[in-house]
Amino acid sequence: MITQKATNITWHDGAITNSDRERLLNQKGAVLWFTGLSGSGKSTLANAVEEKLFEMGHLTYILDGDNIRHGLNKNLGFSPEDREENIRRIGEVSKLFCDAGLIAMTAFISPYRTDRDKARALIAKDRFVEIYVKVPLEIAEQRDPKGLYKKARAGEIKEFTGISAPYEEPFNAELIVETGKLSLEESVQVVIDYLKKNGFVD
Ligand code: ADX
Repeated sequence: MITQKATNITWHDGAITNSDRERLLNQKGAVLWFTGLSGSGKSTLANAVEEKLFEMGHLTYILDGDNIRHGLNKNLGFSPEDREENIRRIGEVSKLFCDAGLIAMTAFISPYRTDRDKARALIAKDRFVEIYVKVPLEIAEQRDPKGLYKKARAGEIKEFTGISAPYEEPFNAELIVETGKLSLEESVQVVIDYLKKNGFVD
């Protein structure tokens, strides 16, 4: 639980609002929260969705676990507490991007339901889209793009999600994309259709 530490601070609103920025960008700011096992295809899907949205003339930004852990979150590991802080910071950063009018996409395992729900609670109800990138563990493990499942099975990586640390499936994701059943193109289309249907893009 993070409490407010600083005192004597005052919130300031700027003259240019979120609606002004959205009008300029001709889109509705959103947080597309991709969650799923390592190797489920979160980053691949987020990147392909970004390419499609870019072609359509939209401004997006991807926050990706592996990348963010090189910078903003380089002081965090994979204990439950560190994953909680990882997701808390990303929830706050994605909220800023959303306020900036962008379609922010986060690609983090985000294995704990409460942590994802806290991120959801930060963002307006109609702007948070939880996307469960769903594959059976066996498929993620077969793919093993970074060779990490092999290491985890050999005991070389501790607290590895799916092997020695939990992944809590979403109960109420706005979208479930089964990347083992759909092609990448089909998966992208599922997301784009949702964004069109819900007025994020034309
Ligand atoms: S999260 O659980 O805190 O959301 P995050 O998405 O940032 O995780 O980082 C996951 C990535 O870190 C994985 O895709 C993998 O490449 C790498 N990684 C290294 N160690 C672990 C581990 N113990 N558990 C899961 N992923 C790990």
